[in-house]
Amino acid sequence: MTIPSFVIGIAGGTGAGKTTVAREVADSVGEAVTRVPIDNYYHDLSHLEMDEREDVNYDHPDAFEWDLLMEHLDALLIGQSIEMPQYDFTLHNRKDETVHVEPSDVIVVEGIFALYDDAVTDRCDLKVYVETDADVRILRRIRRDVIERDRDLEGVIDQYLGTVKPMHEQFVAPTKKHADIIIPEGANQTAVNLLTEKVEVERSGVAQGLASEWERKPVEVADA
Ligand code: C5P
Repeated sequence: MTIPSFVIGIAGGTGAGKTTVAREVADSVGEAVTRVPIDNYYHDLSHLEMDEREDVNYDHPDAFEWDLLMEHLDALLIGQSIEMPQYDFTLHNRKDETVHVEPSDVIVVEGIFALYDDAVTDRCDLKVYVETDADVRILRRIRRDVIERDRDLEGVIDQYLGTVKPMHEQFVAPTKKHADIIIPEGANQTAVNLLTEKVEVERSGVAQGLASEWERKPVEVADA
């Protein structure tokens, strides 16, 4: 049984590059990372018709099942496995199947609201906010939603202006103040290397001297 020793929260707006950072850290650290994408914890909306699901505000904190997320996070933190829900963005709903997830030495919690709830941030040893310009984020989002998520351009634009942008400004961007480090631009190799190094140092249990450096908040990491 593995009891995780280090939890990283990675937040940032849609299209900021959170997943890229999480994936690169996981790839560098190896098998010792369990990723918890908060998107998987969107509420089950099976009781709604497709056209009703299309109208939901997916950028409000209430769109998520926080109780289940916390239950799963706490289970992982005491070394228990979970059945993690999976999300289907084309159907705006959870998939029927879940994925069996075992805890690893390092847990990475990622999502637009990774630094929103105290219950989550209290469990994070390192809080990261990925900051990317809004124009870059919307361009990435258009490409992703149209190509991968089967959305039409008009719909993506309407959703962005109607909910994504205002909710980002109201709920997501303010969470930057909870971050220990702010990474400009998603795939920033310098920042990923620093994060990986920090994780390795913590895991090897020799962090005492270095920890104080990281505790000075927030640290801006220069773009690679
Ligand atoms: O990966 P990313 O952080 O962009 O995922 C969060 C985004 O997914 C939110 O901004 C939300 O608008 C979007 N979303 C969506 N449709 C859903 C669920 C989430 O467009 N059914």
